[in-house]
Amino acid sequence: MTRMDLPADFTGKVALVVGGGRGIGSAVVEQFARRGATVVVADTDRLPSHFNHYESTQVTGYADAQKLAARMTESGLRVTAAQADATDEDDIRRLYADLAEDAGRLDAVVNAFGVTHVCPVERMELAEFQQVVSGNLDGVFLSAKHALPLLRSSGGGAIVNFSSVSGRSGFAKVAHYCAAKFGVVGFTAALAQEVARDGIRVNAVCPGIVRSNMWRYLLSEFVRPGESEEECWERMRTMIPQREFQTPEDLAELVAYLAAATKVTGQAISVDGGMTAP
Ligand SMILES: NC(=O)c1ccc[n+]([C@@H]2O[C@H](COP(=O)([O-])OP(=O)(O)OC[C@H]3O[C@@H](n4cnc5c(N)ncnc54)[C@H](O)[C@@H]3O)[C@@H](O)[C@H]2O)c1
Repeated sequence: MTRMDLPADFTGKVALVVGGGRGIGSAVVEQFARRGATVVVADTDRLPSHFNHYESTQVTGYADAQKLAARMTESGLRVTAAQADATDEDDIRRLYADLAEDAGRLDAVVNAFGVTHVCPVERMELAEFQQVVSGNLDGVFLSAKHALPLLRSSGGGAIVNFSSVSGRSGFAKVAHYCAAKFGVVGFTAALAQEVARDGIRVNAVCPGIVRSNMWRYLLSEFVRPGESEEECWERMRTMIPQREFQTPEDLAELVAYLAAATKVTGQAISVDGGMTAP
């Protein structure tokens, strides 16, 4: 299958990808950089230990962001890494202040971070519910709040938030994650209305199943006794009408489109092979 070649050229533009150190966000960083943008990739190594279970004992988001920036720079692209926890207002305030000082403008913000956890509601602790809701939603609010002045002074721009198939449909054992991702869709629509006259567009993307660290953790929870990992992946594949997993690049292409599509705002667009088709 050939890929759609979007006309979007971001030469002279500045993009920020929060949670871009690895997974889908890292493909978004590469997509913007290859289209000519100066990109800041922000991530954190300080996630609560609760979320470390989907990748050994150490969260390495910022270390990965630094490696990504070094690799992109070696290829002649303009990417720098910054340490920021999206749920920490001081970190986010500093991130945007540094961006204003160093780059002087901002054209696109992508909130690509997210955390998940599997647990039925009856066994879920309030702290777990709150951590998952806050880990997916607080940063969307904080990042947008502190991005707006710089986007406005740059003459407008785009915010793209990561929701999920779990922001369009309910799925068992991830009620907290669904609550947060439906929340991302609602926040996106409301903010889009609020800033439409400022030339700032706000949209959400809803991935289906991308085989990132997050899904490797989910698979370890969903695998049935006696089932191999490969068999479990095949079972997951049958949940997708197109029978094809999505890739980070599939999402990165949609993000680039939304960053450039001047008449599209307030939308939540799925890349899920038909999983949540109405
Ligand atoms: N993988 C999928 O199939 C899938 C499906 C639906 C939605 N999503 C959503 O897509 C987005 C990207 O997911 P992914 O699969 O690439 O996950 P991932 O776990 O591979 O990567 C997430 C990145 O976000 C960073 N991060 C997490 N919390 C952060 C915080 N508070 N501050 C800064 N950085 C933080 C992590 O360090 C990591 O680098 C998330 O919002 C996720 O919920 C993913």
